[in-house]
Amino acid sequence: MEAQAQNSKPYDIAILGASGFTGKYVVREALKFLNTTPSCPLKTIALAGRNPDKITESLKWASQSTTPPPIFIVKADVSDPSSLGDLCSKSKLILNCVGPFRLYGEPVVSACVETGCDYLDICGEPEFMEKMEAFYHEKAMENGSLVISACGFDSIPAEMGYMFNIKQWGSLAAPNKIDAYLNLESEKSIVGNFGTFESAVLSFANSGKLQELRKSRPSRARLMIPGPRPSKGARIEHQNYIKLYGVKFPSADSTVVRRTLVTLTENPEGLPGVDESEEDAEKRKKFWATMKPAHFGVKIASKSPLSLIIFIAAGVFIGLFGKFSFGRWLLLKYPSIFTLGWFRKEGPTEEEVNSASFTMWFVGHGYSDVSDASTATKTETEIITRVMGPENGYVTTPIVLLQCALVLLHHRKNLPKGGVYPPGIVFGATDLQERLQQNGISFDLVSKSAC
Ligand SMILES: NC(=O)c1ccc[n+]([C@@H]2O[C@H](COP(=O)([O-])OP(=O)(O)OC[C@H]3O[C@@H](n4cnc5c(N)ncnc54)[C@H](OP(=O)(O)O)[C@@H]3O)[C@@H](O)[C@H]2O)c1
Repeated sequence: MEAQAQNSKPYDIAILGASGFTGKYVVREALKFLNTTPSCPLKTIALAGRNPDKITESLKWASQSTTPPPIFIVKADVSDPSSLGDLCSKSKLILNCVGPFRLYGEPVVSACVETGCDYLDICGEPEFMEKMEAFYHEKAMENGSLVISACGFDSIPAEMGYMFNIKQWGSLAAPNKIDAYLNLESEKSIVGNFGTFESAVLSFANSGKLQELRKSRPSRARLMIPGPRPSKGARIEHQNYIKLYGVKFPSADSTVVRRTLVTLTENPEGLPGVDESEEDAEKRKKFWATMKPAHFGVKIASKSPLSLIIFIAAGVFIGLFGKFSFGRWLLLKYPSIFTLGWFRKEGPTEEEVNSASFTMWFVGHGYSDVSDASTATKTETEIITRVMGPENGYVTTPIVLLQCALVLLHHRKNLPKGGVYPPGIVFGATDLQERLQQNGISFDLVSKSAC
């Protein structure tokens, strides 16, 4: 009955916020996969937002044509619940690109959960993600709505990269910690759009609320990580093998990976699919049996310590000014000054986007035989893996969002009926990594050595 209702929906996906800076790149990526073969699950797309003229402009830009393909354009405003209810009841899946999510995201999740529509977004704000889990998980399970945040650069490369590193350890060995080093490079300059900057400023300003939310929630499973808790290390450290300096990066990645590992500890066989075959259930169990928890953190990394000092300076400005409303006003009025050019009101140019790339190194330290971990004084094995791809915010984000959407449409019966989850626990055992590889994001084993 539920499957029938899903099949009769006119839009396979609806891209909400299609007029935004990131939204228009998501539209461009989606058009590549529209109706490509008779078995393609993406036959219809709706572009949604509060300003249909702006959406039409996005579609023209994305299709590179003055006569764009016939695509539904739907008026939907996050401050108008009936417009969202209508959009969600006609869509199998919403791709939400309207941010900052802490300001605009909740009505969209609520409408999806009410109507049993699936939901993915490109949020990088941990408080929003954990709040949605706290408020909507039970109802989403009941109504058959799968709600998954962080399906952009935050946090798919981290989630899939962590799992790829773990796969290299074999059955006896296990890591104690995995440090990810994120290196952004460009022949021009690395620039982010204002929407991401505003989301980051509001996230920092409200970090106390995330701690309050966590304290108010029932405690969850403890991760069973072999060996002692690693020491914090220097503020700026040099990683010898990859020859990069790194400093702690307060992105959403480490909290998202941790939520996946906690959900796995509570569900050691992964999450059963709503209508999966015995064969698919076996595959899922086999995959998750190989996954292991480790301490995980992310560092922003660079060849030159000077770029890291600039990064730290921008972080200090956001931390100091973001605490009071006049400071936030200043930050948001002059993003380029306070981030020393990292964020701009008008976003990066097409040339800047095309000339940028990212590399995320995963450096794992652990034990060749996990049974020695309780007596070992230090780790003795190092495994380094790497995820690489094009510009992070506006090329990689649309690629990973679209591939998550296609996995969801293709393999819906193998995914949980509903609930609010981080992406790793839902997509880990699917073909997402292979799909990312086919679309320009590489996963490599770099080295395995004794240390
Ligand atoms: N995960 C990642 O790596 C990643 C990468 C890129 C972006 N992001 C996140 O994506 C979000 C958007 O960033 P952006 O740079 O694309 O921002 P943006 O250019 O400001 O786009 C925001 C979009 O939200 C829409 N919107 C605002 N209020 C709305 C309302 N009341 N009803 C319906 N739509 C509304 C805007 O519509 P109008 O055009 O009508 O104003 C626009 O389409 C941010 O939170 C950012 O952090 C994440």
